[in-house]
Amino acid sequence: MVTSSPIIVALDLSSAEEAVRLAKAVTPHVGAFKVGLGLLHGAGPGVATALVDLGKPVFADAKLHDIPTQVGAASRRLGRLGVRWVTAHVSGGESMLRAAQEGLSEGSGGYAGLLGVTVLTSIGQSDLTAVGIANTPGKLVSKMAKVAAAAGCEGIVCSPQELAVVGTVAPELLRVTPGVRPQGAGKGDQTRVMTPQQAIERGADWLVVGRPITGASDPVAAAAALVASLEIPQGVEDR
Ligand code: C5P
Repeated sequence: MVTSSPIIVALDLSSAEEAVRLAKAVTPHVGAFKVGLGLLHGAGPGVATALVDLGKPVFADAKLHDIPTQVGAASRRLGRLGVRWVTAHVSGGESMLRAAQEGLSEGSGGYAGLLGVTVLTSIGQSDLTAVGIANTPGKLVSKMAKVAAAAGCEGIVCSPQELAVVGTVAPELLRVTPGVRPQGAGKGDQTRVMTPQQAIERGADWLVVGRPITGASDPVAAAAALVASLEIPQGVEDR
């Protein structure tokens, strides 16, 4: 039985009010709330504070990627909002990730952790080839996981297909997985997808789920059904 939901609901909605309304409605079925680029740049960072006030961990998916000084400054400010996690692209390099982690620790008083974004779940092999990257997503994620761990990230964001490799090369990292689709649900713009149960079986600590919940005619029922469909391996519920 699931005693603690591993679902992070991605509140990719068009206003802070809608995001907070949906967060309140699905709160019994989810473990955390995620706010992404659309809302952070539209409604502004205050949306994260409004979600923090609901009492669950908040994930600010800012996907930072710039020179270390800039990323450090942005992370410090995000840390002050009371969020539990912030993301930065691992492709920004180890010194950028270190600056992000340091800024975040400073801003949050040690509460918030950095999650390194590896290869987006919407990206396939042909996208990598087009920009001159010959490695497979699996090989890239394996290298990125080592960099993220060396830089002091708390965890990593990867597709369900790369969970196993992350577990092998950097088992200390928390594994957060988007690209999760219940059986029969539309993929949308995602490419490297799996079902929630497959992702859990491959070692995901958290599943990021957006449109299968937010786009459902009854989001509360969709979130409840998703959690009910999960069989969590022993130990995972002790999160
Ligand atoms: O609607 P859907 O379930 O596809 O939403 C997935 C969420 O996870 C989005 O908010 C997206 O920004 C985020 N995400 C992702 N792939 C990554 C990192 C984050 O899809 N690699």
